[in-house]
Amino acid sequence: MRKIEIVPAASSLLQSLRGLGYSPETAIADLIDNSIAAGAATIAVDLDWNEGDPVARILDDGRGMDEDALVKAMCFGGDGPTGGRAQDDLGRFGLGLKTASLSQCRCLTVVTRKAGASATLAWDVDAVIAAGRWDALVPDPPPASAQLEDLSAHENGTLVQWDRMDAIGGLSGLDREAFFQRVRDIGAHLGMVFHRFLGGDARRVAISLNGRPLKGWDPFQRSHPATITMQSEPVRHAGKVLTVTPYVLPHRDRFANEAEWEAAGGPGGWGERQGFYVYRGRRLLVPGGWLGLGGTRAWTRDEASRLARIAVDLPTDLDADWRIDVRKSQARPPGRLRNRLTVIAGLCRDKAREVFAWRGSRAKGQLRHARPQDDIWAAGSGSARYRIQRDHPAVRAVIGAMNGNAGMVEGLLSIIERSVPVERIWLDVSEAEGAASPALQSDEIATLAAQLAAVIATMPVSTPVEERVDQLIRHLPGDMSALRSAVLQNLKATP
Ligand SMILES: Nc1ncnc2c1ncn2[C@@H]1O[C@H](COP(=O)(O)OP(=O)(O)O)[C@@H](O)[C@H]1O
Ligand SMILES: [Mg+2]
Repeated sequence: MRKIEIVPAASSLLQSLRGLGYSPETAIADLIDNSIAAGAATIAVDLDWNEGDPVARILDDGRGMDEDALVKAMCFGGDGPTGGRAQDDLGRFGLGLKTASLSQCRCLTVVTRKAGASATLAWDVDAVIAAGRWDALVPDPPPASAQLEDLSAHENGTLVQWDRMDAIGGLSGLDREAFFQRVRDIGAHLGMVFHRFLGGDARRVAISLNGRPLKGWDPFQRSHPATITMQSEPVRHAGKVLTVTPYVLPHRDRFANEAEWEAAGGPGGWGERQGFYVYRGRRLLVPGGWLGLGGTRAWTRDEASRLARIAVDLPTDLDADWRIDVRKSQARPPGRLRNRLTVIAGLCRDKAREVFAWRGSRAKGQLRHARPQDDIWAAGSGSARYRIQRDHPAVRAVIGAMNGNAGMVEGLLSIIERSVPVERIWLDVSEAEGAASPALQSDEIATLAAQLAAVIATMPVSTPVEERVDQLIRHLPGDMSALRSAVLQNLKATP
C-alpha cells in the first residue's frame, strides 16, 4: 500500500489549539498540575499587570528537566492519553503545558534546571506562523526576572513564563483594578482546585499568588461541628474501587456570621457549588453540579439541595471512562455507574433538604428533646400543605380559652393554613439565597414577649413555666435567648 505522510499545517493548527477554551484559572491550574507531578513542594504564581501588557510566571522547585526532557515536554501531544501514568501524575494528554499557556499568550518560555544545569525553550506563535514550521526557539539569554534569579539559585526547578498575552485569553486588556479583581478570583479558584494539597490532605504543597500564600477551601467544611458526613460508599467499577462520600453542610443559622457562611459557600456561591466534587489524584476536577444524573429529568442546581456536596475520588487510570476533557474541567460518569451514583446522591439530597428546611436553633438552656406535637407547623412531606398542629400546647390553650368561641380561632387557623404563600416564599428565599431572618429589635422583643407571656399564662400549669416558654419559641430562627428572658420576666411580673 502506498503511504503519504501529511504533516499538519503548523500555523493554522497552532491557532486552532489556542482556542480550546481555557480560562486563566484553568490554564494556571494545568501548569500547577505539572509542578505537582514534578514533585514540587513550593509553587509561586506571579501575575504582573505590567501596565496592561501582563506577564505570568509560574516557578516551582520540582525535579526539573534536562534539555532532552524539555524538548519532549514542549512537543504537542508528547505523552498522550494512552501511556500508563503514575498515580500522582496529574497530566493526561501531553498538551497542557502548551495549549493551556498559548490559550493565554503568544509566547511561552520554559526555563528549567536539573542538577544545576539550565535549559530554555520557547514557543512563539508569531514565529511559527511566519515560518509555517514547528520550530521552537532557544532564547539566549532567557527573559530576566526575579523568578529567574530565584531559579538560578537552586539545583532543580522549572519556570514557565507567558508573554504577549492577547484577547484570546482572559488577562489582557484589563485596567489595573479589573486585573487585580481577576487575580483574586484566580486565587479563589486555585484554593478550591488544590485544597487537598494546600490543606495537607494529600502531599502538602505550598502555593503562593503574587507573594501571598494561598489557603485551601474545603468544600465539605469538615472542621465545622455541624457538618454531617454520611456513610462513605466504595463503588466498584472496571476492577477498581472509587470512593464516594456524601456530606450535608450545616444550615445557615449554624454559621457564626455572614462572612463565614459566604466563605463556606465558596467561589461562585452556595447555589453553584452543590453536588458532586470529582477528584482525580486528589486534584479537584469537577467543583459541583449533578453530572446529568437524576430521575426522569436531570437534577438541576436548586436552592433546597444546596447543602448537599458529594466527594468522588477517581484513581488516575479510570479517567478515560469518565471522559475527562483536555481542560480537566469536565467529567461524565460511565453509564454503568449512573444508577448507583443517583441512589447515593438522592439520599444526600433528601438529607440536605431536611437540614435546609430546619429553622431555629436551641437557645442555651432550652429543652433538648422535642416531641412531634411540639412543632407548631406540620408539613405533609412532599405536598405543599402546611397545617398548624391543634395539639400544640399553646394552640390548645388559646382555643380552650375561647369559651365556646373556639370555632372563630379554628376558622382563622384554617384560612391561614390554606393560604400559605408557598410560591412567594419560595421565590423570596431563592432570590435572597436563603438570607437569614433579621434579628429581633429590642422594641419587637418587648411587644412579642408581652404577647407570648399572655399565651403562656393560659397553658396548663402542670408544665413548668420554662418548658412552656420553650414549647412556644423553640422554632423561632436565630438566637432567642433575649426573647426568652423577656418572656420569663413578663410572666414573673404578672402572677
Ligand atoms: N513544571 C514541570 N516540571 C517538570 N516537568 C514538567 C513540568 N511541566 C511539564 N513537564 C513535563 O512536560 C510534559 C508535558 O506536559 P504537558 O504538556 O502538561 O502534558 P501532560 O502533563 O499531560 O504530560 C510532562 O509530562 C512533564 O514530563
Ligand atoms: Mg500537564
